[in-house]
Amino acid sequence: MADARPFHWEFQPEPVAPEAFRIEGGRVLEGTVQVSGAKNAALKLLAAATLTGERCTFTNVPEIEDVRVMADTLRDLGVTVDHPAPNTYEVASGDVEWLFVPLEAAAKMRASFILLGPLLSRFGRVIISNPGGDRIGRRPVNLHVDAMRALGAEIEYRNGYYFAKAPGRLRGTTVTFPFVTVMGTENAILAAVLADGHTVIRPAAQEPEVDDLIAFLRKMGAEIERTGPDTIEIEGRKRLRGADHRVVPDRIEAGTFVVAAAVTGGRVTLEGAPCEHLAAFVETMGRVGVSVSCGVDTIEVSGADRDAYRAVDIETAPYPGLATDLQSPTCVLLTQAHGASRVHEAIFEDRLEFLGELRRMGARVDIADPHHATIHGPSPLHGAEVEIGDLRAGASMILAALTAEGTSTIHGAHHVHRGYENIARKFQELGARIERAAEPVAPAATA
Ligand code: UD1
Repeated sequence: MADARPFHWEFQPEPVAPEAFRIEGGRVLEGTVQVSGAKNAALKLLAAATLTGERCTFTNVPEIEDVRVMADTLRDLGVTVDHPAPNTYEVASGDVEWLFVPLEAAAKMRASFILLGPLLSRFGRVIISNPGGDRIGRRPVNLHVDAMRALGAEIEYRNGYYFAKAPGRLRGTTVTFPFVTVMGTENAILAAVLADGHTVIRPAAQEPEVDDLIAFLRKMGAEIERTGPDTIEIEGRKRLRGADHRVVPDRIEAGTFVVAAAVTGGRVTLEGAPCEHLAAFVETMGRVGVSVSCGVDTIEVSGADRDAYRAVDIETAPYPGLATDLQSPTCVLLTQAHGASRVHEAIFEDRLEFLGELRRMGARVDIADPHHATIHGPSPLHGAEVEIGDLRAGASMILAALTAEGTSTIHGAHHVHRGYENIARKFQELGARIERAAEPVAPAATA
């Protein structure tokens, strides 16, 4: 009998239709939650698979919208992307005939720009949309482009697209970034592993997801090593082979559940949790008064001392510092701490904007400038109708609503589905009252 395995396991997608979360707050969260694979690793691993014509298999891939967007973007290039079982993806990039990453992909997901390095180094050319469109200043990709040029690429920018060519092979070189960039480092790595000669990248990002990418590339036959904390060295190879890889757990999702337990005064065990990747965050939790204990791959959190949480000052930084992606969840916790907490968001200029929405739930917040705010606590939060602006802010609004008295409606749930697998179900299993509700769809305009 023929192999009964379905060619495509049809994963039940989170609905793309507009959706809200409705949350009845005030419940103490208790139980166990399984941490999913890391979004910020999975996206780069899928892109890395285009460096070879052989099949690559990934397990522990989170079932999230961004992964589906990356898979579809690859399929549009002619890459075979199979999804044979939940959390498993197989990628085979034998023939890529269409070296064009359109605006549609970039508009849905900035991380589509990670395809620049691998497509350029393997196929010698690519046309790729600028994810920032023509909005200069916010989330630029200039450092990615500079790194490719340093490796010998010729890149022109026209009408929102980068037209990139590598005459012959890319050439190994020293890539020097003016400051740490995670995806810039990853793009440089993905280009240099097939370049001719030796490449040194400095300062290289130290995020665990970068090391996960390096681990996968080594399985593919790449000669790449982190020779110092912020230095990566690569000896380019002519070709790489297919490989299998299990995606590293998501430290940001883990941190989100730590705050959920802490802020509701609950007791939660995280399984498959990467405690060693959360040192700065766990240290911050300890200063606040949250009890966090790490096992081999578990984290136990107790919010028993919720009434005695202390204000702390926090500052985000590249890894191993406090992750900017955990700044907003931490801010929700700080609304329940005694005293004034100063927050310095050092990486991005738009990541304190969600504090305005948090105010609508009763938080007392002063925003001094795009990088600095002060949170005064403790403030009892109350239910409200709020709008999610982006992924991490969205998860944080859920945390605030879980803490609040009364019912909250959080619009823009799709932002959260981009990066969190089954977030509503995971919270329900911990005892939260959270449900997904379809938004009324505006009637189509008539001509
Ligand atoms: C990645 C993560 C994101 C995380 C961030 C910082 C992915 C898909 N996303 O984003 O979740 O919050 O790291 O940990 O992995 N910059 C430039 N020019 C560039 C590139 C970056 O000026 O070409 C600036 C950015 O605006 C920012 C800083 O560099 O101020 C750091 O950003 P970067 O580390 O590049 O973030 P991403 O890799 O985009």
